[in-house]
Amino acid sequence: MRLRLARLGWLLLGLCSLGWSSPPPHQYGRVVLDSSSSRAGVPAVSFDHWRHRARFTCRLCHVDVGFAMTRGATGISASTNRSHFHCGACHDGKKEFEGKPIFASCSDSRTLDGSKDCRRCHAPQDSARQRREYEAFAARLPRASQGYVDWEKAEEQKLIRPLDFLAGVSIQRSALKMDKDIAIESKGAWMADVIFSHKKHAVCHTKPVR
Ligand code: HEC
Ligand code: HEC
Ligand code: HEC
Repeated sequence: MRLRLARLGWLLLGLCSLGWSSPPPHQYGRVVLDSSSSRAGVPAVSFDHWRHRARFTCRLCHVDVGFAMTRGATGISASTNRSHFHCGACHDGKKEFEGKPIFASCSDSRTLDGSKDCRRCHAPQDSARQRREYEAFAARLPRASQGYVDWEKAEEQKLIRPLDFLAGVSIQRSALKMDKDIAIESKGAWMADVIFSHKKHAVCHTKPVR
């Protein structure tokens, strides 16, 4: 009896750690958006945090652009993107990043009309390709345990320089006189509460959650 209970304990522990372990680095922070896509007959959209957080601060997206910190809660659609909100705040074919225009998001076509750019967002999940892209991207960056990028170190070593300002979207602010870190409650399953460092980002002290 004792033995059985002990075995049950191990089994439960095993199941729990399976269920609770973090996703592999190339999937960590992925948000799959499908409130309208499948219904409209186009593949769901994958948003990867790792691609974007190397280039922009959390604050820029979650305060200035206004993305909620709960998946599916922002109400992103083809039409909001076309109106230069949400993904379309950057992905409009005109805004530039490092001197190159950022590829555009949704047109008013109801099909993917053969445009390669539509499929950069609307694509079935392909884990092998996503892993290759992550590895190519992370190859030059310092790693923490299990292959995750050590973002703080990458920024300290100036290997990444996330932008905190987007012309036409951000407003010029005077730096806040505060150097305490604050915690922002997040509902993300993949992440504990978010700590925005005032010293580093001079963020505002409201919750970026709508
Ligand atoms: C930068 C990423 C991105 C690109 C590129 C993109 N889309 Fe979208 N699209 C989205 C997002 C995000 C949604 C909302 C996803 C959801 O929740 O279903 C969306 C939704 C849609 C929908 C669903 C219907 C609706 O009204 O929301 C259609 C149809 C669509 N896009 C067409 C296109 C076409 C056609 C292209 C290429 C010309 C394209 N999209 C390129 C991000 C993108
Ligand atoms: C380029 C824009 C962008 C940047 C930069 C960004 N995010 Fe996000 N974040 C998003 C979008 C888009 C969503 C999904 C919103 C939705 O589904 O309505 C999201 C969702 C989230 C969620 C909820 C995820 C879930 O699974 O429910 C958390 C937590 C989050 N972000 C934290 C962060 C943190 C922390 C940083 C900085 C390290 C950051 N984000 C940087 C755009 C961004
Ligand atoms: C603050 C600006 C910004 C916002 C907002 C933003 N992106 Fe991006 N995104 C970029 C930049 C810059 C790149 C790199 C562009 C390049 O490599 O041509 C990028 C790259 C991507 C890529 C990689 C495509 C590839 O083929 O390499 C995808 C997919 C993507 N974004 C989807 C999204 C989706 C979906 C949203 C909205 C939920 C979004 N992005 C919101 C700036 C942004």
